[in-house]
Amino acid sequence: MKEEISRPGPGARRGVVVVHGGAGFVPPERRDVHLSGVRVAAAKGREALTDGATSLEAAIVSVAEMEANPIFNAGCGSSLNERGEVELDASVMCGATRLAGAVAAMVPFPSAIRVAEAVMNEGRHVLYAGEGATAFAERSGFERLAPDALTTDRARTRLEAQLAGRVGEAWAGGTVGAVVADAAGHVAAATSTGGTVGKAPGRVGDTPLIGAGTYADDISCAISATGVGEGIMRASLATRIALGASSPKDVEQAADTAMKDFAERFDGSGGVIIVTPHGLVVMKWNTVTMSHAIAREGEDVIGGI
Ligand code: GLY
Repeated sequence: MKEEISRPGPGARRGVVVVHGGAGFVPPERRDVHLSGVRVAAAKGREALTDGATSLEAAIVSVAEMEANPIFNAGCGSSLNERGEVELDASVMCGATRLAGAVAAMVPFPSAIRVAEAVMNEGRHVLYAGEGATAFAERSGFERLAPDALTTDRARTRLEAQLAGRVGEAWAGGTVGAVVADAAGHVAAATSTGGTVGKAPGRVGDTPLIGAGTYADDISCAISATGVGEGIMRASLATRIALGASSPKDVEQAADTAMKDFAERFDGSGGVIIVTPHGLVVMKWNTVTMSHAIAREGEDVIGGI
């Protein structure tokens, strides 16, 4: 298992934005572009935070930036299902209010994370799927795109490789997520994906499921997961970490225990990014790569893959 831990510096508490660009295998020649993508996304979220945005808005800004970047598997550049279609999953959760919103198996819209935010703000339900998600997005004022508007040549090539049985070439991860703690200690999480390459139509992964791919509660931490959703869902990975930590101090140990269990008992493949209200950042992954970046207010952005 690989990990990165980042502790807040001394002095007054400051905000921190943490992002991932997906767990999987990014080939060496493409790692620079993934690293650059997550660094830009973290910096944009931090800029929003410094300008007065809430932790949730900063997380959404970072995720929306990666949805617009075709190198990631979310928004533009999303993985295609076995029929060659884009179906989007996304969710948000606010740690201060414990409110959440999500969409699943949704046809192309410019930003699934913004639709998930609208679901949360409407407050009637937590998760809309399929035609219901499309209808919700349209009545909320989002513009539906042409079916292939988010499809890239690279996504088509990955699908062809998957359908030809060259799985290793097809799966590069690329789900995107962000967790943020503001200076007041409020945390939030946001995650967005096109799902797995060559998935069956209607397949939904962990990303839009609160407690699996996304979770946030000010009494413990905010979490965004990435990897193969089937294992993350069966392990209830985000809930497992949040509930395993009886206080923010215990998050590091809880993440370690949960990730070992995820790998050993659920055959899980993936990773998590976590931030506590005090700004402790914990990242763990068991894949070859998981692009990530940390942008603390007043410090340089750091990134890795
Ligand atoms: N973790 C993304 C998915 O499995 O859909």
